[in-house]
Amino acid sequence: MEVLKNKKTLQDFIERQKEMGKKIGFAPTMGALHDGHLSLYEAARKENDLVISSIFVNPTQFNNAEDLEKYPRDLNRDLSILENSGLVDAVYLPEVEDIYPEKTESQHYNYDGLENEMEGKSRPGHFDGVGTVVEELFRQVKPDNAYFGEKDFQQLMIIKKMVEKKQLRINIKGVDIFRAKNGLALSSRNQRLTEQRRDDSKIIFETLIRVKDEFKDKSVSEIKERVNEIFSNQENMELEYFLIADENTLKEISIKENGKSYRAFIVVNVDGVRLIDNMHLD
Ligand code: PAF
Repeated sequence: MEVLKNKKTLQDFIERQKEMGKKIGFAPTMGALHDGHLSLYEAARKENDLVISSIFVNPTQFNNAEDLEKYPRDLNRDLSILENSGLVDAVYLPEVEDIYPEKTESQHYNYDGLENEMEGKSRPGHFDGVGTVVEELFRQVKPDNAYFGEKDFQQLMIIKKMVEKKQLRINIKGVDIFRAKNGLALSSRNQRLTEQRRDDSKIIFETLIRVKDEFKDKSVSEIKERVNEIFSNQENMELEYFLIADENTLKEISIKENGKSYRAFIVVNVDGVRLIDNMHLD
């Protein structure tokens, strides 16, 4: 596996690959790799000649300095995971100046309102930071296909929108949420939970399964009431939000309409760690 430590080395590498006509699959990450990331590489491996990942903890997408500081970082561990997986041909490790040559600040994006829902409300500026880093990485890596987990479903939709608006010729592929045996969606943040809390957190997945079932014959307000009740009885957990939204606009709904697709979204703080999950509803 090639380890590309700056923009210049990456650019030389990409140029050689493009000359050879290689189809590039790309999965950007912020490190603290887990099996969810490996599932992105597996998807990329099937559809491309070359798989590239990047590890860069992007400062502009954190609206909370403490969250940025506490974000788990262990480059040696990540590199050995990548090497041992045998799924990745090259990893790009940009320095801050490679992404932000002038000022470490976000550009402003208009994602047709997708940015104003859910995470956009809870984390102001977050999606400007995501758009800025992902657009820059796309321009440097020049992938044919790029892979993102559906755990961050709003991020996936926003990146699709950014690519469409900027007319970048990159296919954005969503990859199913990778879950632990107990159903907890894998996330780098899970590392900050004790084993006991990780086990307790299976209630998030169990609740989503229940919502999916109840969505067939219960009203949205009945479902929301039930979810609030479930979490009000959980010690050490605080429900930040639960809502059901139109899968295309991400706008919260209160009434179901025929012919539309819906998805349930949930954020729970467990011992101060923010866990996010979602599920498609039939
Ligand atoms: O999902 C992530 O890990 C990050 O938001 C991303 C897409 C790598 C951008 O920093």
